[in-house]
Amino acid sequence: MTHMTIRDLRGMKGQQKICSVTAYDYPSARLADAAGVDLILVGDSLGTVVQGQPTTLPVTMEQMVYHTQMVARGAERALVMADIPFMSYQQSVEAALENGGRLLAEGGAHAVKLEGGSEAALERVEALVTAGIPVMGHIGLTPQSVHAMGGYRVQGKGASDAERILAEAGALERAGAFSLILEGIPEKLAKQVTEAVTIPTVGIGAGIHCDGQILVWHDLLGLGDGKYPKFVKPYAHIGRSIKRALKAYATEVRDGEFPGPEHTYH
Ligand code: KIV
Repeated sequence: MTHMTIRDLRGMKGQQKICSVTAYDYPSARLADAAGVDLILVGDSLGTVVQGQPTTLPVTMEQMVYHTQMVARGAERALVMADIPFMSYQQSVEAALENGGRLLAEGGAHAVKLEGGSEAALERVEALVTAGIPVMGHIGLTPQSVHAMGGYRVQGKGASDAERILAEAGALERAGAFSLILEGIPEKLAKQVTEAVTIPTVGIGAGIHCDGQILVWHDLLGLGDGKYPKFVKPYAHIGRSIKRALKAYATEVRDGEFPGPEHTYH
């Protein structure tokens, strides 16, 4: 089967919504792929949802390469994109090239994502794209800047902040980004951005008008503790099913019911 390409994704703007989800390992990537998801993001959200860290900041390049390899093995059709983690591109263009390159060469990703729309971020996007590394931008609520933002808060509510985000979107498009994640911004601003750029926007907590949507694996499947942010819709409650199965197993082991004769070599 051939993979989705950045060309395919760009062609979907205005034609068909892009469906995207994060994944961090092989079985999840296989399931997402089999479900027909267009784009799988190996997000640095793995820091919070897989590692149990309070933020994405401790995630390392080694960890991103490791998880990207597993996902790339499981995805036959979906485009695989990997986050360049915190302090793996901010310090220099060279670092961005080296680490972005590793995610493709060692990790097997087809594209990378980096956060922000500052002059420095634009310089890195341009360098990566020039080196043949497709880049998705990420603006609005950018989790790697959690401390600078003063927490995980909706961005672009005030007029000047909204203007800045709109300007960043245009600048990222001109720098060569093939698509944009819009995270945690008001619906109206996401619509303005989506109409202002010719590249597809993929939203998370950014309303219905984006060209596509992305959710974090654990949120989408209800693997968390039952408390989800407003923008999350859990499409299943897998966490509850797992707990039920584990409790049943523990009871049967303790009661001497498992393994039964049918699970035993005679
Ligand atoms: O790391 C991540 O999962 C992300 C998505 C929330 C877009 O960046």
